[in-house]
Amino acid sequence: MTRPVLLEASDIKKNYGAVQALRGVDLTIRAGETIALVGDNGAGKSTLVKILSGAIRPSSGTIKFNGKDVSISSTDVARSLGIETVYQDLGLCNNLNVAENIFLGREEIRKLGPFSFLNKRVMRDKAAVALSGLSINTPHPNANVAGLSGGQRQAVAIARTKLWRSGLVLLDEPTAALGVQETKRAMDAVRQLQAEGVSIVLITHNMPMVKEMSQRVVVLRQGTKVGDVPTSAASGDDIVSLITGARQQWIEAA
Ligand SMILES: Nc1ncnc2c1ncn2[C@@H]1O[C@H](COP(=O)(O)OP(=O)(O)OP(=O)(O)O)[C@@H](O)[C@H]1O
Ligand SMILES: [Mg+2]
Repeated sequence: MTRPVLLEASDIKKNYGAVQALRGVDLTIRAGETIALVGDNGAGKSTLVKILSGAIRPSSGTIKFNGKDVSISSTDVARSLGIETVYQDLGLCNNLNVAENIFLGREEIRKLGPFSFLNKRVMRDKAAVALSGLSINTPHPNANVAGLSGGQRQAVAIARTKLWRSGLVLLDEPTAALGVQETKRAMDAVRQLQAEGVSIVLITHNMPMVKEMSQRVVVLRQGTKVGDVPTSAASGDDIVSLITGARQQWIEAA
């Protein structure tokens, strides 16, 4: 069964001065699928994800979302489309509490005559519901995020995607190798998102994670897409040879 296309990025280019970070990348993301986005350091993975999340603008190229041309000109625009980004440690405001982070940019307002108030109680209660069951150690909605563990921070970010029924979640894992516990936690987080039926783009350097979590693997090398295949069709060695350039290219229609 072929799933409907959620997002279609075409010929995306991004230059930073003389550096061509992306040299005309096409990417199709289908509803409910998880794509592993892999490539060497500097291949352009984060640049592509930042473009989809509205954090930066492409130099050229087009993006369709649900079949319509869109201009993802800011992270607010991305959120309004249902595109949410979860960075390992970024993406949360350390000066705000858990509930405020979950509601960032979408605060509940209570109107009283000419006055507007933040409806803190409603936000706190909804945050608690979204957070329940997401972490062994569920953070309190009033807790400051600065003091949370990595797992709790991730729970906050996932609660946000749950509450806002995001259609697409972008996960940019850190370059540094994750420890065993952190890898397990990251995989659990991805599984929770998959259970919600969202599409996921997962940047990871962890091959078991690619094999276990994704349906498709997309390989970037020096700003060019050199691999786009069903994960089940590619061995770990196949993927590595695309990353290093030992194999030139392997692209199958999505
Ligand atoms: N703000 C920037 N200014 C200038 N060059 C940049 C900027 N951001 C990224 N680049 C360059 O663009 C290229 C792609 O970088 P990008 O961060 O997308 O790579 P990546 O695949 O995410 O790498 P990593 O695995 O190390 O996270 C690199 O050559 C990088 O140096
Ligand atoms: Mg990166």
